[in-house]
Amino acid sequence: MGSSCFSRGNSQIASLITEFIKENNLEKNVKVEGCLCRGMCKKGPIMQINNKIYNQVTPESLESLLTEGLGLKK
Ligand code: FES
Repeated sequence: MGSSCFSRGNSQIASLITEFIKENNLEKNVKVEGCLCRGMCKKGPIMQINNKIYNQVTPESLESLLTEGLGLKK
């Protein structure tokens, strides 16, 4: 939720992540939290799942990234 990532669309991404978690009934298993700048602003918006960082996240790429990152089968 650093300012660069936020201005590049992470406010929308954050909402979409929350929706994805609810739609897939993952509320008890997944913790979502924002973080400060990770120093990768030019590659933003970034998202981290466990220790893996995804860059240039878009609303269009989000579902497949979450599915992969969370180990879900679609
Ligand atoms: S604001 Fe996202 S990496 Fe800097």
